[in-house]
Amino acid sequence: HDNGVALTPPMGWNSWNRFGCGITEAKVRAQADAIATKGLKAAGYQYVVVDDCWMASQRDGNGNLTHDTGRFPGGMKALADYVHGKGLKFGLYQSPTQGTCQKRPGSYGYERKDAQQFAAWGVDYLKYDWCQTSPQESPRMWADFPGKSEKDIAKTLFTRMSNELKATDRPIVYSLSACCSAVDFPSWAGSVSNLWRTSTDIGDTWNQMLRNAGSAIPYSGAAKRGAWNDPDMLEVGNGGMTDTEYRTHFSVWAQLAAPLIAGNDLSTTDSATLGILRDTDVIAVDQDSLGSQATAVTNTADVLVLSKPLANGDRSISLTNKGSTTATISTTATAAGLPSASSYKLANLWSKAVTSTSGTISATLPAHGTAMFRVAPGTGSTVGATRPLVSASSL
Ligand code: GLA
Repeated sequence: HDNGVALTPPMGWNSWNRFGCGITEAKVRAQADAIATKGLKAAGYQYVVVDDCWMASQRDGNGNLTHDTGRFPGGMKALADYVHGKGLKFGLYQSPTQGTCQKRPGSYGYERKDAQQFAAWGVDYLKYDWCQTSPQESPRMWADFPGKSEKDIAKTLFTRMSNELKATDRPIVYSLSACCSAVDFPSWAGSVSNLWRTSTDIGDTWNQMLRNAGSAIPYSGAAKRGAWNDPDMLEVGNGGMTDTEYRTHFSVWAQLAAPLIAGNDLSTTDSATLGILRDTDVIAVDQDSLGSQATAVTNTADVLVLSKPLANGDRSISLTNKGSTTATISTTATAAGLPSASSYKLANLWSKAVTSTSGTISATLPAHGTAMFRVAPGTGSTVGATRPLVSASSL
């Protein structure tokens, strides 16, 4: 999508996974503070996005969207200003239909007014969610599209808001969401949006995380600079998985060039979680300027091997043990797409160890563990033409 933003997958924070409808202005400010002070901004996290429940249950007398005065007493402009004051960017959630998932007023029929309102408040990111989609919930919408399929209506309305956002002249990252419906984003969303969901909602469990990872794998061909598959926001740090599992979650999202939108409470997060979210070398894979998503070298019940081409010719290769006991997972450099060579350098992005191999790439991993390597043909002790690995001790 050629709106000039999200040339690499967007990074930031969203309120939904941790706070749901319990989000407040004070909590959003605390997240912006934490991003600025805990090294997350320096690591690339930028967008602070308020998900559903920021709105009042009705538009005002002039048809304008307005804030929930209980949760956001200062209003959205003041909150956007606060976030901008931290050197960060601000985002909001809305729906193209007649209502959001939590039954706030949708943008249907108000697209121009709402886009202009968002721009006036200083919104830099819009998550636009296909909710309240049935004829009972959005009767006016269905009546306006006689004989059309849900996919046709969705395509029309997501495109309409794309055009209205562009017309504001404010660069706004445009994120499409649809839960459990047949809108088929990967086949068309790349021309009107910066990112689109490929699955139902993630949850803070190993199985839900793995399901969502899997949802994006078939669509690697659709990902490119400015247009990304979105297996949903991160659960890292929310407590339902082990740190080993969260490292897998973060590794696989980076391999898939997925948006890295933290979903935990950054104001109270522990150092193990920060160590995952701030790993510069894994983030560099996600943010690589080539904009290629990994493809699966192996994807079976127990093993996932992903290989992502990088701008400097290296490959990022991840080995994941999906099984429930320790296992050795292997591939080879050529199977993973590297040119044939007598020797390869291997930088382990989590342990920071640099080794070499004649071709086999393997790791013995605990249940649900992942090893991630940056691999290049040749010899020597550094991998990555542009920058050395950050040492483990400085993380
Ligand atoms: C849907 C989306 C979620 C979240 C909620 C808010 O379920 O998929 O990511 O935005 O709506 O109600």
